Amino acid sequence: MILSIYTISLLALSNAYATAPEINRKRIVRSFNPRRNASSGTTPLQVGNGNFAFGVDVTGLQTFSPFATMSTWGWHNFSLPTTVGQTSVDDFIGLDWWTHGRLVNYNQPNPAQGDISNWLIQNPQRVNLATIGLSFNDTDVTEEMLDNKNQILDLWTGMISSSFSYLGASVDVETWADSGSDTIGISIESELLSFSSLGVFFDFPFPTINKFEAPFVGVFNATKNHTTTLQYGKNMASIRHDLDATSYIVAVTWDCAAEISGPIEGTHRYVLRSSKGTSKINLAITFSPDQESYIPSVDDIKTRSIAWWEAYWGSGAFIDMSKTNSSNATELQRRTVLSQYLTAVNSASSCPPQESGLVNNGWYGKFHLEMVIWHLLHFSRWDKFPLLWRSIPNMYSQFLDSSIDRARLQGYDGARWGKMTDPTGRSAPGEINSLLIWQQPHAMYFAELEYRAFPNETTLTNWDGILTSTADFMASYAFFNQSTKVYDLGPPMYPASENTNPNATINPAFELAYWRFGLDIAITWKERQNASVPAKWADVRDNLAPLPIADDAYAVYEGIPDMWEDQTTVQDHPAMSAIFGLLPPPSNRSGDGDGDGEPLNMTVVRNTADKIRDLWDLGDCWGWDFPMLAMNSLRLGDVDQAVAYLLHPLFEFDDAGYPVGGSRVPTPYFPGSGALLLAMAMMAGGWDGEPGMHFPEGWDVAVEGFLPGL
Ligand SMILES: *[C@@H]1O[C@H](CO)[C@@H](O)[C@H](O)[C@H]1NC(C)=O
Ligand SMILES: *[C@@H]1O[C@H](CO)[C@@H](O)[C@H](O)[C@H]1NC(C)=O
Ligand SMILES: *[C@@H]1O[C@H](CO)[C@@H](O)[C@H](O)[C@H]1NC(C)=O
Ligand SMILES: *[C@@H]1O[C@H](CO)[C@@H](O)[C@H](O)[C@H]1NC(C)=O
Ligand SMILES: *[C@@H]1O[C@H](CO)[C@@H](O)[C@H](O)[C@H]1NC(C)=O
Ligand SMILES: *[C@@H]1O[C@H](CO)[C@@H](O)[C@H](O)[C@H]1NC(C)=O
Ligand SMILES: *[C@@H]1O[C@H](CO)[C@@H](O)[C@H](O)[C@H]1NC(C)=O
Ligand SMILES: *[C@@H]1O[C@H](CO)[C@@H](O)[C@H](O)[C@H]1NC(C)=O
Ligand SMILES: *[C@@H]1O[C@H](CO)[C@@H](O)[C@H](O)[C@H]1NC(C)=O
Ligand SMILES: *[C@@H]1O[C@H](CO)[C@@H](O)[C@H](O)[C@H]1NC(C)=O
Ligand SMILES: *[C@@H]1O[C@H](CO)[C@@H](O)[C@H](O)[C@H]1NC(C)=O
Ligand SMILES: *[C@@H]1O[C@H](CO)[C@@H](O)[C@H](O)[C@H]1NC(C)=O
Repeated sequence: MILSIYTISLLALSNAYATAPEINRKRIVRSFNPRRNASSGTTPLQVGNGNFAFGVDVTGLQTFSPFATMSTWGWHNFSLPTTVGQTSVDDFIGLDWWTHGRLVNYNQPNPAQGDISNWLIQNPQRVNLATIGLSFNDTDVTEEMLDNKNQILDLWTGMISSSFSYLGASVDVETWADSGSDTIGISIESELLSFSSLGVFFDFPFPTINKFEAPFVGVFNATKNHTTTLQYGKNMASIRHDLDATSYIVAVTWDCAAEISGPIEGTHRYVLRSSKGTSKINLAITFSPDQESYIPSVDDIKTRSIAWWEAYWGSGAFIDMSKTNSSNATELQRRTVLSQYLTAVNSASSCPPQESGLVNNGWYGKFHLEMVIWHLLHFSRWDKFPLLWRSIPNMYSQFLDSSIDRARLQGYDGARWGKMTDPTGRSAPGEINSLLIWQQPHAMYFAELEYRAFPNETTLTNWDGILTSTADFMASYAFFNQSTKVYDLGPPMYPASENTNPNATINPAFELAYWRFGLDIAITWKERQNASVPAKWADVRDNLAPLPIADDAYAVYEGIPDMWEDQTTVQDHPAMSAIFGLLPPPSNRSGDGDGDGEPLNMTVVRNTADKIRDLWDLGDCWGWDFPMLAMNSLRLGDVDQAVAYLLHPLFEFDDAGYPVGGSRVPTPYFPGSGALLLAMAMMAGGWDGEPGMHFPEGWDVAVEGFLPGL
């Protein structure tokens, strides 16, 4: 049985109905049900449960477009290199870089060890578990040959219904995912079934080494590199897929007389056909790394999907903009509702989501620890804690030991969190990967929002070890500069905008502000527990270098040449907007009367927002940049500018709500969805000192259930 974690979260969600929702959520959600009459060339429609998702084309299956079937557990390694001295991951030695007068080892590709360096970047990859589609008797059927194609995704129940006709006969397909296991339920109804002219095929792609694999994942012509084995039971079959050391089972059950055969010569394709006279077939298909897994019935899958999604939509926060007669409001509502669906399917996983969720592979399917804030923080403000808790804080606990090792090997205290990560916690080698630092204080932000919602000892205890190790690293990473008498961050380092010279990058504005915020929360945490506060934490917090300023606006980093004049410096992520957008202004949270560092100069904050709006190369921005800018505008009181950023032409969401990658990354790019929901939470629920709604004048909006923000 693999029901436990999902079942618990369903119950927890149901318990979260503190008061019955006032807004007619069902009507609003359903008004944005995606409808298609042709497959998209870039995105599927998906059913899924956060840890598993099945992406379909216009037939409701993967008939013509092999969109992916993906999970949190399905990963594959290619074999290790055989190059002498590079045959094991332990052979990798990285590179030593000068860091404040000493050599520090960084997890960077070593040119003398290209093979093992590349292997560590490229492995493991996330596996597309199978392709399941309709099998026509005529092998050359194409999507264009189907008539009356119609498809709708019912967001309220998690069902995709698809219909079309072929040679005059209609075909109806319902597609569901189980909330309690990695199972899809499929119902097909058509007289073509009864002539044995229609079946269901199962095929198995093999992984490739591609950083980005979109829209499809894997290839079907490497058939000799992997094996599949069919085993038969009564009204069921299981296909075992072995790819090197990875293996898993696809178990199929059906409810009528039918037979499965295959593989077709030279392929890994199997075909299930019902016996003559059967016009309806229900199939349940479970994916599992285990030999024995429980396969729910299609009826159970439907019942659970309906219950889970109703609980999901009914709990936590909601925004109703339906009374506002403005295409801008309608579009924001559409993006919000569809992002709520898609983050539940793709991001609510037991390890953090990859940027492309369970749709396709970005960065080989690995996840980035600096991105978790955009993927997941919104769940706190929208009061969807059970979904957040699938990965946070467990992910930090799981990776704590390896992060302590990382810090120790570099001569620092505490835990240095990694970057581009796989489920074992290994961070992929990379110059940027090893020198980025803004992922470090994220734990403090998650912890503080959780404490706002659950101010109890369990919360304090759950996070204490994580925050302590994080703050220890942050304090020891800051370098006391004897000549300026302040603590410096870097060099070498990369700021959130990954386009500077790491050896010249010192005291980036956003990272300094985030360090102060993170250490401040860690100190507050100790005070709440009546525990002693390490003196170093307060010393660093109160004596960090001042935020760098150029032309009366915050600069990317201290001493950056031609900050506002050079076209190449006003590119990439404008993270200075996060100082006042994502982060609350420095306050005297700890109550110790010292102001917790220098206050922000609001003239400079405003100048920064204006200069970014006027000078930044927004064409080089993508995803979360726009919500981040919107959050800054909101806190500055410029609601219209916030809406303009959220509806910027380069921040697109397609017809089914998938965040379009844009100039720099493939589609979908889910940090954009999570960041949008975070910005909408600020609009709907405000922040410290400014609670309540912040929508444009004249908009008639109702909101409920938002938790306070910082
Ligand atoms: C298919 O859908 C598109 C977009 O919704 C619409 O413009 C088009 O008319 C539809 N085509 C058919 C044949 O229904
Ligand atoms: C891939 O190889 C690494 C290094 O040996 C190992 O830690 C990891 O568990 C492997 N993953 C898979 C999915 O085989
Ligand atoms: C940064 O310094 C290291 C040595 O500490 C050197 O190997 C590297 O090439 C330098 N990078 C740049 C961009 O100057
Ligand atoms: C389709 O193929 C099946 C299996 O080969 C066969 O039994 C059936 O008669 C075929 N149907 C048509 C309409 O050709
Ligand atoms: C398999 O297909 C890919 C792309 O479709 C192609 O690049 C590759 O050469 C093919 N490999 C073989 C062994 O046919
Ligand atoms: C399949 O295996 C062969 C032999 O090991 C190898 O040369 C080839 O690159 C592999 N193909 C893929 C797609 O990995
Ligand atoms: C909504 O706005 C449009 C144009 O802004 C206007 O033509 C229309 O009458 C308005 N509808 C209602 C119900 O106010
Ligand atoms: C304490 O907080 C935790 C979350 O950290 C929550 O699950 C639990 O229900 C809370 N306990 C009480 C008694 O409120
Ligand atoms: C001290 O700070 C100054 C100004 O930022 C910088 O130029 C210098 O390199 C720093 N000293 C050390 C030892 O890092
Ligand atoms: C800390 O001390 C205060 C005041 O003595 C007390 O009210 C509070 O319960 C203590 N908190 C913890 C976590 O022990
Ligand atoms: C804030 O910044 C402005 C513009 O740089 C400057 O004129 C002013 O003196 C600063 N205020 C404080 C209190 O430092
Ligand atoms: C919609 O938003 C755009 C971009 O912010 C703005 O230019 C336009 O005036 C807005 N339209 C309405 C009707 O508010």
